[in-house]
Amino acid sequence: MTATVLVHRDPPTLAAAIAARLVTRLVDVQAATGRASIVLTGGSLGIATLAALADMPARAAIDWRNLDIWWGDERFLPAGHADRNETQARAALLDKVGVDPERVHAMPASDGPDGDDPEAAAARYAAALKSAARPEDHGLAPAFDVMLLGVGPDGHVASLFPEKPALYEEVRSVVGVRNSPKPPPTRISLTLPTIRGAKEVWLVVAGEDKASAVHLALSGTGPVQIPAAGAVGRSRTLWLLDRAAAAKLPASLARAASP
Ligand code: 6PG
Repeated sequence: MTATVLVHRDPPTLAAAIAARLVTRLVDVQAATGRASIVLTGGSLGIATLAALADMPARAAIDWRNLDIWWGDERFLPAGHADRNETQARAALLDKVGVDPERVHAMPASDGPDGDDPEAAAARYAAALKSAARPEDHGLAPAFDVMLLGVGPDGHVASLFPEKPALYEEVRSVVGVRNSPKPPPTRISLTLPTIRGAKEVWLVVAGEDKASAVHLALSGTGPVQIPAAGAVGRSRTLWLLDRAAAAKLPASLARAASP
């Protein structure tokens, strides 16, 4: 299945457009099934998107209490640390809307029940995903309705970095990651098979430092070199870019979405 690429003018326009798209997607899924699930990403654009959603009056159309919230990766730091993706998502959005705390599935912290052991923490998260998966999901994790993934300049998604062993993982749904090239060095990440179990994967990318990685991912480079190339949704893969991130794509691939 081919990916759809949409290009917006600049990062604020892109964040607002992704937020608007999230409202539509989550409202549609909830209207059809009574519930929805989302996987959040860390990173500057991911958090800016959550802040844009918090500022949008249309956010009231989402039934926040019937939304399951998961994370694609986490920086393995103590609970409440300012650099945790969870802490940033709570401040940008989750603390401002009426989520059900039981349905906010944060990845464990380094001072959590497994202490400073990222593999044990990853196994704990894998167990939570497994117990939330329904038979129709056909896997070790729920078939998420939408998964947001930021992309690094090296092409990483979640905490799956180029050439690292986690990219070859086929059995576990979640792994502990050590010696990450992006700080902090210890992280927890969903694996590619878990990412590929999502119904829709949205790669959200801004900035000229990402242009080469975006081009490589969309021109046939494999996921070991460019992990983002392996982030494909079951029914849809959407690349949502600003102009700078799209700068190296052929015009035939990138459709401009904003004037
Ligand atoms: C993290 C992420 C990571 C991020 C990309 C893009 O923990 O930092 O989850 O995968 O999404 O590195 O981040 P930026 O948008 O800040 O470039």
